[in-house]
Amino acid sequence: MCGIVAYIGNKEAQPLLLDGLRRLEYRGYDSSGMAILNGKLHVSKKVGRITNLEEILSTSPLAGTIGISHTRWATHGEPNDTNAHPHLDASKKLALVHNGVVENYQALKRKLQAAGHVFESQTDTEILAHLVGQTYDTLPPATLNRLETALKIALKQVQGTYGVVVVHADEPDLLVGARRGSPLVLGIGQDEEKGAPKEYFLASDVSAIVAHTQKVVYLKDFDLISLTSNSFSIKSITDKPSEFEISQIDYRSEDADLGTFPHYMIKEIFEQPASIENATRGRTNVEEASAVLGGLNMSPQELREVERIVITACGTALHAGIIGEHIIETLANIPVEIDFASEFRYRNCPMDRRTLVIVVSQSGETADTLGALREARRKGFRVLGICNNVGSTIARETDGGVYMHAGPEIGVAATKSFTSQVTIFALLGLLLGRMRFLSFSHGAEFIEGIDALPDQITEVLKQADKIKAIADKYKDAKSMLYFGRNMQYGVALEGALKMKEISYIHAEGYPAAELKHGVIAMIDHQTPSIFIVPHDSLRSKNVSTMQEVKARRGPIIAIATEGDEEVASIADETIFIPAAHECLLPIISIIPLQLFSYYTAVLLNRDVDKPRNLAKSVTVE
Ligand code: M6R
Repeated sequence: MCGIVAYIGNKEAQPLLLDGLRRLEYRGYDSSGMAILNGKLHVSKKVGRITNLEEILSTSPLAGTIGISHTRWATHGEPNDTNAHPHLDASKKLALVHNGVVENYQALKRKLQAAGHVFESQTDTEILAHLVGQTYDTLPPATLNRLETALKIALKQVQGTYGVVVVHADEPDLLVGARRGSPLVLGIGQDEEKGAPKEYFLASDVSAIVAHTQKVVYLKDFDLISLTSNSFSIKSITDKPSEFEISQIDYRSEDADLGTFPHYMIKEIFEQPASIENATRGRTNVEEASAVLGGLNMSPQELREVERIVITACGTALHAGIIGEHIIETLANIPVEIDFASEFRYRNCPMDRRTLVIVVSQSGETADTLGALREARRKGFRVLGICNNVGSTIARETDGGVYMHAGPEIGVAATKSFTSQVTIFALLGLLLGRMRFLSFSHGAEFIEGIDALPDQITEVLKQADKIKAIADKYKDAKSMLYFGRNMQYGVALEGALKMKEISYIHAEGYPAAELKHGVIAMIDHQTPSIFIVPHDSLRSKNVSTMQEVKARRGPIIAIATEGDEEVASIADETIFIPAAHECLLPIISIIPLQLFSYYTAVLLNRDVDKPRNLAKSVTVE
């Protein structure tokens, strides 16, 4: 989705903004642009990759120490130079960048057109720029905080979502921003600590500014921020006071670098032994054979009183939730329901006071998941979050939760966040189970299983070359089918999603027994079936389903437990994984499928980290 980076300080803004935009590339975009204030406004914008913008800037650099910049992901109007941000107002003195959607832009446009405004682009953002500019021009020049006031008055007329930053040629030392529904983070320059002149950043994502500062303020919805080169103030658009907290970013800029890997996706796949360790560190208690999840903010009594759980999320996080449903039901015997966040937020889901809602989101900013969270809280339910991004909106608005501590996930295709999410469900299942019927010895055994995960994943990763060879053999398939049951059904869905997202090969995941209810019509010698068939309670049933595919000459790739010669004798290719507790197996069985989709995409020359049409964080509905 769109990205924002803005700077005010004593350094040249252009290189800092370009660096920030490059770090936001992973979010997905189709054009980029920049405006620098230096007596007058200087604007440069270009469709396509950031290198196109860099090219223009290398021949016509923009000098100045105050600037705003943007990567656009088209919603209103096709990707082209004109529709790229920043947009200017009628006076051409005000420039604005915007993430989000102005839902009532047509009505606002008609009003402005009636007042003589002419628009160059098809965007909702240009309407917003004109609206702020018009408001500014009508305010008396002596108005206190004139630009801030103009933005506030304009935004009160806007329906929709925004993360917005504005500069004005008549305000030579000022940046003003606001947010509602689209993230905006203030970065407080580290130079301040060394006694050097102050500097500030505003960005839609901390990864854009982590190279320059680790001291941030995550703005809340309706916050209005004004920045000069030596001070900042945060108020509320609603005229109520706004409190804020300065936080420390918990990763370094090197964590977001590629290192020796060719793509972020493969780097993040290989980071999983470490990310699983980070998700579990300090969260198990061997003496009590249980888990320690202090962030839930729930007393043992409250946890015991939970009678039903609803898990809601989108995409990969939803697949982790599907596995979470099985884990919690198996370990804690609590009924669990899972729903797409986009559906949950609009349906009347009957819940009673003992229902606990869990939202899962890597970014913590997904619009549908946030909508579901707010709907559940509106109805008075306790909502817990499983998030990766510390300080994200979802993390802030939940009543409690568990952070993944997976480090930055840059690849658009989620990988390490998935295994961290399932691991956290395993910890939660253990905690809830030990408060109910799960025995000490089962709990202790389960903890041993959790502790073994990093080494087991490392073993699977050693098969990368073998998996690459399998990918080479099947890369030209038009369609692939993924089968798994119970816990492994979520893995089948996730494996198929990974394949679709980055290779563009059609792939679907099914509960294996559904084969005979229709999907079997798809089986032929050109359509590979991927069976996730480890040693679990349904293995023998899966083996029978494999036979049905084999009888129809369908190629089979099996993910099986080490030493399972029966499965290997049926399948055309077998990737072995170590044995593990049934509830932990998905954390291991997904690894070969992540590698399989990665190598397939690489062999097909796909843009693995920036697949077509996708955005890392979906902050619009
Ligand atoms: O940030 P979130 O976990 O809330 O994101 C949810 C989905 O948008 C995300 O998992 C998406 O499906 C990824 N592209 C999966 O690889």
